[in-house]
Amino acid sequence: MDAPSSVYDDVPAMLRKASPMVQPQGAQPVAAEPTAAPPGGSPAPAPVLEVTGLHKSFTGVHALRDVDFAVRPGEVHALIGENGAGKSTLIKVMTGVYEPDEGEVRLRGEEVAFASPLAAQEAGISTIYQEVNLVPMMSVARNLFLGREPRRYGLIDSTRMKREARDILRDYGVHVNPARPLRSLGLGAQQMVAIARAVQIDARVVIMDEPTSSLEAREVETLFGVIRRLRAQGIAIVYVSHRLDELYQVCDRVTVMRDGAVVRVDDMSAVDRITLVSLMLGREIGDVRKHGATGFADAEHQVKGAPVVAAHDLQRRHQLDGVSVDIRPGEVVGLGGLLGSGRSETAKAIMGALPLDGGTVEIGGATTRRTVAASIRAGVVMLPEDRKLEGIVPSLSVRENIVLAALPRITRAGLVDRAKQDEIVDYFMKRLRIKASGPDQRVSELSGGNQQKVLLARCLCLDPKALLLDEPTRGIDVGAKAEVQGVINELAEQGLGVLLISSELDELIEGSDRVVVLKDGRVVGELTGDDVTQDTLMTTLADAPPEPDLSPPADEPVIESAAQEETHD
Ligand SMILES: Nc1ncnc2c1ncn2[C@@H]1O[C@H](COP(=O)(O)OP(=O)(O)OP(=O)(O)O)[C@@H](O)[C@H]1O
Ligand SMILES: [Mg+2]
Repeated sequence: MDAPSSVYDDVPAMLRKASPMVQPQGAQPVAAEPTAAPPGGSPAPAPVLEVTGLHKSFTGVHALRDVDFAVRPGEVHALIGENGAGKSTLIKVMTGVYEPDEGEVRLRGEEVAFASPLAAQEAGISTIYQEVNLVPMMSVARNLFLGREPRRYGLIDSTRMKREARDILRDYGVHVNPARPLRSLGLGAQQMVAIARAVQIDARVVIMDEPTSSLEAREVETLFGVIRRLRAQGIAIVYVSHRLDELYQVCDRVTVMRDGAVVRVDDMSAVDRITLVSLMLGREIGDVRKHGATGFADAEHQVKGAPVVAAHDLQRRHQLDGVSVDIRPGEVVGLGGLLGSGRSETAKAIMGALPLDGGTVEIGGATTRRTVAASIRAGVVMLPEDRKLEGIVPSLSVRENIVLAALPRITRAGLVDRAKQDEIVDYFMKRLRIKASGPDQRVSELSGGNQQKVLLARCLCLDPKALLLDEPTRGIDVGAKAEVQGVINELAEQGLGVLLISSELDELIEGSDRVVVLKDGRVVGELTGDDVTQDTLMTTLADAPPEPDLSPPADEPVIESAAQEETHD
């Protein structure tokens, strides 16, 4: 992560400040675009947030080149571009995380220079940064109200805070006990808490950097409802996403960036998808058209031999209820299901990263010790869902991050085979189009999508027999996505067994030879052959009876006192 970008660097300051409570927003009366179509026929309302002539360089990278960008009240403005194009950097300059080298930022016509994200927030700019940046140990309710807690006689009114948190989160389709620690929630639900928090702050501008990357289709709909409501209230929204279809559903205008510069600003309806992609990639439209919907198109896998992974009757309290799944050499097995259905837990259990109450996992026909190290030795590798918590080592270089796990293999008599290492690193940096100044750049300085590619490269260079991929293309831009999917496909053709988890249905359906469908921690069906379609997946999920008793217990320990939290780092 970028060193200065933690929104909660200022937590103690926020806790000291008892600012007024913001009421939950409930169902606001929806006025039809109050500010988008101004009276009197003037061309467009003045921008609420505007930057001109912005430049920002890091050592070796010119991340922003003469960028102009403006967002008007009551519009949803898409900000798009390839991984490393400069989107997050632009947001960070506008919100006081970085200082620009040159250029101006104006809020409602006045030049501003925010000293910190908190200062930007106090001026009415609320930001959800690309990496969820809440405090995992604190309760859901505290995270939602951090710095604005309801108080009574100077003390935090815990009862009221929890009650209001519950009401607010219901609007976002998150039904959890707000006293639970945030980290006990899945990534998607955590993301919803971050969004709810940003929206509760009385903001004029809401900036969302890839808000939907960990959300399911249904949650995305909920979020869009929230966005439309904000727009109707005249709030300006900046929306970053690599899922182009989404943009057409909610965005009014679009700014396209390439290599740190703005290459197009237009009404969303004036640019079609293929034009967007060609603008982002800087390729001719004809070139772009040749590619299919995903890089998986016309996959032909020869599935043969005994399973490389056989998981049987996996049991874990509140999470897995007898899941069995086999992965054979040369096949891509999809895990389908909604958030919280146990997909990630299944993969982690196979990997030995999640303690089990029961069940067996055989790798290559033999049971191994249930540890991650033993699984890797046996030939199973996992790409985790949460790269920040479980994967990337920010302070190490791209090279080191890629070869980290493979070191034992390229080490002879205690010496690292440097030539071999360079060859591997060079191959994957090219193959996955990792944008970095070179193999020695620190990973924390890479854009979000490029960090994800580094992690994938790390898995692949272990030369595994089975690969467990949890959201492998999350945050990866349209160009590289097809590449990554192509690589997965090729590996399966070469005889690798793949377990694929993806909340993007296109990817799951086109990529998988068969799909095991999970619901509430149980297998409720399996799609094979011609039945591997979105429709059958939906029907299988809809027809499966619910299992009421899998939600985690309500009474997990939570840090609640402000004193403890203030010492939390
Ligand atoms: N702290 C930093 N130090 C050095 N270089 C950086 C730093 N932050 C960003 N960069 C570089 O600036 C460029 C733009 O990165 P940025 O994070 O803005 O991209 P992005 O458009 O948000 O990409 P993504 O879609 O992958 O999130 C990249 O080349 C990145 O490596
Ligand atoms: Mg980014």
